[in-house]
Amino acid sequence: MSEALFPRNFRKDYPEAVRGEGCFVYTGDGRKILDACGGAAVVSIGHGVEAVARAMGEQARELAYAHSSQFITQAAAELARRILELAPANFRDSEDGPGRVYFTSGGSEATETALKLCRQYFLERGEPQRTEFLSRSQSYHGSTLGALAVSGNIKRRTPFEPLLPKWEHIVPCYCYRCPLGLQYPECKVDCAEDLERHLAPDSEGRVGAFFVEPLSGATLGAVPPPAEYLPRIAKICRQQNILLVADEVMTGMGRTGKPFAVQHWDLKPDIILAGKGIASGYAPLGAVIVTGRVARAIERGSGTFLHGFTYGAHPVSTAAGLAVLDYIAEKNLFARVPSAGEELRAALEPLKQLPIVGDIRGLGLLVGIELVREAKTREPFSAEAGMARKIYDAALARGVLTYPIQGCVDGARGDHILLAPPFVISSDEMRFLRDSLYEAVADVSRMNA
Ligand SMILES: Cc1ncc(COP(=O)(O)O)c(C=O)c1O
Repeated sequence: MSEALFPRNFRKDYPEAVRGEGCFVYTGDGRKILDACGGAAVVSIGHGVEAVARAMGEQARELAYAHSSQFITQAAAELARRILELAPANFRDSEDGPGRVYFTSGGSEATETALKLCRQYFLERGEPQRTEFLSRSQSYHGSTLGALAVSGNIKRRTPFEPLLPKWEHIVPCYCYRCPLGLQYPECKVDCAEDLERHLAPDSEGRVGAFFVEPLSGATLGAVPPPAEYLPRIAKICRQQNILLVADEVMTGMGRTGKPFAVQHWDLKPDIILAGKGIASGYAPLGAVIVTGRVARAIERGSGTFLHGFTYGAHPVSTAAGLAVLDYIAEKNLFARVPSAGEELRAALEPLKQLPIVGDIRGLGLLVGIELVREAKTREPFSAEAGMARKIYDAALARGVLTYPIQGCVDGARGDHILLAPPFVISSDEMRFLRDSLYEAVADVSRMNA
């Protein structure tokens, strides 16, 4: 049936997803699967919410499409207003006036937009030499070429490297395997100083911005930074006059227990990228949230941002985003995430007894489980062992969907699985997740002993 589809992986058999309800996805062959990862940390309010489907249908019937170079729509304007309300205060009140929101069709487009916006910001300010962008090794900011260039993930970059600009990456903040061989707190978060070390030789000011995921999401497995890390990064960016771009495509829209993860550390980035949870998967949507300072540079300068997508600020997608926010407000779902996250991590505690579970970490409902050959030495499995994929298969066989990723140690070795369930996950569903995952990990562990 699917012969005409170009699959993500030609060697994999994909079940057919036919229906979603709450935390569950139902397949064509009659299975009911607990979506413990929200697809890819996307589904926040749960599957099958009728109010969102209705809002999308109403918008499609009223006006399905309008090009953003010709019209604005009520749905996009209202969603932008609501997102600014959720954003850190510097996106609303600043001497340059309130911020703005630019809508895209997803996270990679948001990163591309931010790269070009930062570039144009500096052009408008008379600093044309700022053509480079820094980020962290092991990071992931998207799959298009610009977004991949600013990503540090070796496996996803390497085949395409001849096509990517050579921008530098600083070490990530990853205490379980500190890339500098240090220990917190004695290290005094020296990994943040790596940004200063990279900027020091840049006497001409060639760097325009630093991109950072507040929690390394997909590629390191939900690593929360120590409290001092991001404030120090922000201070360095301010001192060096470079823009700070917080990539919250995965962590934003409530996933970590605050509307945006930077709010855990009272950070004031210049730009925040959102995606995934912004429309909870009901429609393709991403957003670039910019401060008044950045918006005003374009407004008072040339007046035109030289950038645009045919589907930017799509009426049906933004209507979906609005309906998702309404549902979150109605059910008070942002407030549910911190306690649900704690409950989930407590439920997962027994997994730590399994010999191949090295670390369980995260914030809110974003959890990473790192798998190791031996917990004491933290030695990773070889890449060929494909442990994350084996856990994925074993968990799926028990009716639980997880998000497996490899490469957290050095781009090739290092396995983890990501959990990012819908915010509505119940205590019973958490117990089912814990029991199924425990059995799956124990089975795979036995087979690899
Ligand atoms: C932090 C981050 N940025 C950007 C992206 C790219 O988003 P998309 O897949 O919607 O293009 C992702 C996707 O996983 C992500 O996690």
